[in-house]
Amino acid sequence: MSANDRPTGQPTTPQESAFLKACRREPVPHTPVWFMRQAGRSLPEYRKLREGIGMLDSCMRPDLVTEITLQPVRRHGVDAAIYFSDIVVPLKAIGVDLDIKPGVGPVVEKPVRTRGDLERLRPLEPEDVAYVTEAVRNLTGELGGTPLIGFAGAPFTLASYLVEGGPSKNHEHTKALMYGDPQLWADLCDRLAVITSTFLKVQIEAGASAVQLFDSWAGALSPEDYRRAVMPASAKVFESVAGYGVPRIHFGVGTGELLGAMGEAGADVVGADWRVPMDEAARRVGPGKAVQGNLDPAVLFAPREAVETQAQRVLDAAAGLEGHIFNLGHGVLPDTDPEALTHLVRYVHERTARG
Ligand code: CP3
Repeated sequence: MSANDRPTGQPTTPQESAFLKACRREPVPHTPVWFMRQAGRSLPEYRKLREGIGMLDSCMRPDLVTEITLQPVRRHGVDAAIYFSDIVVPLKAIGVDLDIKPGVGPVVEKPVRTRGDLERLRPLEPEDVAYVTEAVRNLTGELGGTPLIGFAGAPFTLASYLVEGGPSKNHEHTKALMYGDPQLWADLCDRLAVITSTFLKVQIEAGASAVQLFDSWAGALSPEDYRRAVMPASAKVFESVAGYGVPRIHFGVGTGELLGAMGEAGADVVGADWRVPMDEAARRVGPGKAVQGNLDPAVLFAPREAVETQAQRVLDAAAGLEGHIFNLGHGVLPDTDPEALTHLVRYVHERTARG
């Protein structure tokens, strides 16, 4: 079965989909569901397809990207597809010497810590990522009425990988640069904002219906530091794609204290992790924005009834809100049983079906 001929009242165009309606805070036929990191990760059909192919190599092959992006849509009946790629793909595309190590994450050969290092980060040109344009075009054809979400890493989260040289718990080198050389830090975030803007524009111009900016590690910052040193660059990214009219989603982990500022940065939808209930998250984000979240991904390892109980708690907290997109509070964990995800989609759809 292709994504086009899924049964039961599927939208005929992305604009009519429950997902885009919820992003616009319009009435929905059911609460839309998708999962961060739904592509790849837990799916056996993904692992089979990726055998012997490096992560970054797979991101540059439109045939693989198309198939991997469609897999969770077919299997789970989610309300949106997320483009299969990684936040470091645009950095690789401008020549940064990095790799994605299995089970570790992005590793940068020569970390960026000086003005000279910064000069190596040239702007991204759409031709650098022609494979993205091709894959998004293929996908929008294949997906029919199911919207495609494009994405990019936010300047802070990208800077963390570049400055640390790899994944980091404490972000100590990143923060040392941020506090120690505010001008160099601002210039780095500015360059990353330009690269990220181009990467999002490429995806939107090829047909993506919405975009998500992942600032996964922003929760490591105090609200004051976030507002001063990080938010301006993220705001530039949102502003740069405002004219397209596609919903812009903003997400980070552990960002309970930052939700207000993340809303102010310019997104239309703000994601929250499981540490703040959805109604409280919406209150912190402020009026006029939809919210996304926020089941703890670890809950999916519990028995089915417990998953339902916890999912219902999320739905109850979000019940009075205009514009709720059901998601996990962070990405699908690699050992998640795919059937638990399929069941969760069905549960949310059934429990929220209207009229
Ligand atoms: O959401 C999706 O399903 C689309 C694909 C996607 C990937 N990475 C594929 C991937 C998306 C949206 C991302 C975003 C991403 N990448 C983020 C932000 C989201 C988040 O989880 O906070 C971050 C911080 C990264 C950086 C990254 N890439 C890490 C930390 C890792 C290693 C850990 C892991 O996920 O296994 C990666 C590698 C990566 N990105 C894989 C996949 C499918 C695994 C690659 C492999 O098979 O080795």
